[in-house]
Amino acid sequence: MTYETILVERRGRVGLVTLNRPQALNALNHQLMSEVMDALEAFDRDDAVGAMVITGNEKAFAAGADIKEMAGKSAREMQEADHVAVFGRIRAVGKPVIAAVSGWALGGGCEIAMSCDMIVASESAKFGQPEITIGVIPGAGGTQRLPRAVGKALAMEMILNNRTLSAQEALQYGLVNRVVPVTDYLDEALKLAEEIASRAPLAVRAAKKMINASYESSLTDGLAQERHAFYRLFDTEDQKEGMKAFVEKRQPNWTGK
Ligand code: CAA
Repeated sequence: MTYETILVERRGRVGLVTLNRPQALNALNHQLMSEVMDALEAFDRDDAVGAMVITGNEKAFAAGADIKEMAGKSAREMQEADHVAVFGRIRAVGKPVIAAVSGWALGGGCEIAMSCDMIVASESAKFGQPEITIGVIPGAGGTQRLPRAVGKALAMEMILNNRTLSAQEALQYGLVNRVVPVTDYLDEALKLAEEIASRAPLAVRAAKKMINASYESSLTDGLAQERHAFYRLFDTEDQKEGMKAFVEKRQPNWTGK
């Protein structure tokens, strides 16, 4: 498939998706989100890819859902088209996805970053949910993911009063994994993704699934699910290889089987 609003490439075992509507600060219209999900899902099916990075440009990761596309819509039209549903497909991606964020990550942009598994931020990154300033609320997970990430008090201030977080604040509150100079944020995210992509693929998938399950279930259910997933990995060649390599004091050779 040829894309018009994103750039897609593979770097080693990492699939890289770059949002590419710079003239609109990467505002997330329906076409762009459909293309992003198509690319991520294709990488998810591709055995040559072990992890993915999604990024924008230095000035904007994404300034939110496309306001011009939504401005004239009625509630019924919004519901019927269900444009925001496409954002939800990120949750079903099995391989790790890292957001490399510089500049604005607002509204849907912040929500995409939070839907990813890790965030590497540049020193200029700014996170916020400004929907209140245009008379609405976050619609792609902001009210649910932000309190889980930064706590209720700060999420309330961000969503009810448009408080934005600097990169350093986002690090302090646990929203991002690390903050690096603007010149390095993409390389840093790619390096992290490449390291994860070099690990046992089935174990990486299982680990991601179980960490996400911890947000959905009671501790008792989550512990039972984790134990089950742990045992299931003992039917994989990678478990045999990983443990054998440890005993033989050599590097493992993963096959993803
Ligand atoms: N939708 C559509 N177009 C957008 C946009 C958006 N979310 N954000 C920026 N743009 C466009 C601007 O309209 C402008 O286009 P023109 O040159 O054609 O006028 C271009 O991008 C550059 O933007 P600015 O001139 O505004 O740039 P700035 O540097 O002065 O300001 C900004 C930057 C503070 C990020 C400002 O653009 C802004 O406030 N953007 C909107 C942020 C926002 O409200 N996001 C939430 C959207 S709703 C949402 O995301 C709902 C959800 O949960 C799914």
